[in-house]
Amino acid sequence: MRLLIVGDGKMGRAVASLAAGRGHESTIVGREENAEGHGLTAERTRGHDVAIEFTRPDAAPANIERLIAAGIPVVTGTTGWDAELPRITALVEARKGALLHAANFSLGVQLFLRAARALGAEFAGREGFDGFILEEHHAAKRDAPSGTARVLRQRMREADPARQYPITSVRAGAIPGTHTVSLDGLYETVTLQHTARSRDGFAAGALAAAEWLPGRTGVFTFEAMLFGDRR
Ligand SMILES: NC(=O)c1ccc[n+]([C@@H]2O[C@H](COP(=O)([O-])OP(=O)(O)OC[C@H]3O[C@@H](n4cnc5c(N)ncnc54)[C@H](OP(=O)(O)O)[C@@H]3O)[C@@H](O)[C@H]2O)c1
Repeated sequence: MRLLIVGDGKMGRAVASLAAGRGHESTIVGREENAEGHGLTAERTRGHDVAIEFTRPDAAPANIERLIAAGIPVVTGTTGWDAELPRITALVEARKGALLHAANFSLGVQLFLRAARALGAEFAGREGFDGFILEEHHAAKRDAPSGTARVLRQRMREADPARQYPITSVRAGAIPGTHTVSLDGLYETVTLQHTARSRDGFAAGALAAAEWLPGRTGVFTFEAMLFGDRR
C-alpha cells in the first residue's frame, strides 16, 4: 500500500518505520508544508491508498476535512478534538468517505476497556467503594485528561452510572502511557492497569486499521473494527 502520513512527530515516524517493515511505502507530510491543512490537496494525496493522521488536537479536524474532500480514506489517532466529531461525521457521510478514529490504537487497551467495563458492572450496586482513574503520560503530551482516560470513564459510568470516576492526570518524563482504574474500599483496593511499553503498539494498531479501511465507507472506531460493534 501507499500511505500518506500526516504529522512528522513521534507517532507519524513510528508508523512510517513499522510500515516500511511490512512492505508499505510512505510519504510524510509535516506541519511546514501543511499550514491549516492546506497542503493536503487532491494532487498531494493522489496515488495513495490511505492517510494516517497523527498531529495535534487543533490541527486534526482541518486535516481530516481536507483528506476526505480529496477522496482518500483516513485513519486518525489524534486525540482531543471530540467536540468536532459530529461535524466531521456529517461531512464524511455526505461525501461517502471513510474515517476510522481511535483515542488508542493498542489492542491491549481495547481489551482492557472491555475488562474494566465488566469490573465496573460487578461493583454496580455495591456501596463503600470509591472509583478513580489515574492516567500517566510523557511531559510533551498536550491534552489532559487523555482520550483513553475519558473513554475509560465513559465505560465505567455505562456499567455503573451511580459511581463517579474522577480522573487524575500526570505529565512527566517519557512515559508512553499508563492507565489505571481502581475501586477503593475500607479494607481493600481493586486495580486494573494497562501499561504501554512503547509507541509501536499504537503504530501497529493504526497500521492494521489502515490496511482494513480502504474499500469501506462511513465512520468507524478501532473498537468497531476489532469487535464488530459500532461504538
Ligand atoms: N490513538 C493512539 O493510539 C495515540 C497514541 C499516541 C499518541 N496519540 C495522539 O496522537 C497525536 C500525536 O502524537 P505524537 O506523540 O506523534 O505527537 P508529536 O510528537 O507532538 O507529533 C505531532 C506532529 O504533528 C505536527 N503537526 C502539527 N500540525 C500539523 C499539520 N497541520 N500538518 C502536519 N503536521 C502537523 C507537529 O509539528 P509541530 O511540532 O511543528 O507542531 C508534530 O511534528 C496526539 O494527539 C496524541 O495524543 C494517539
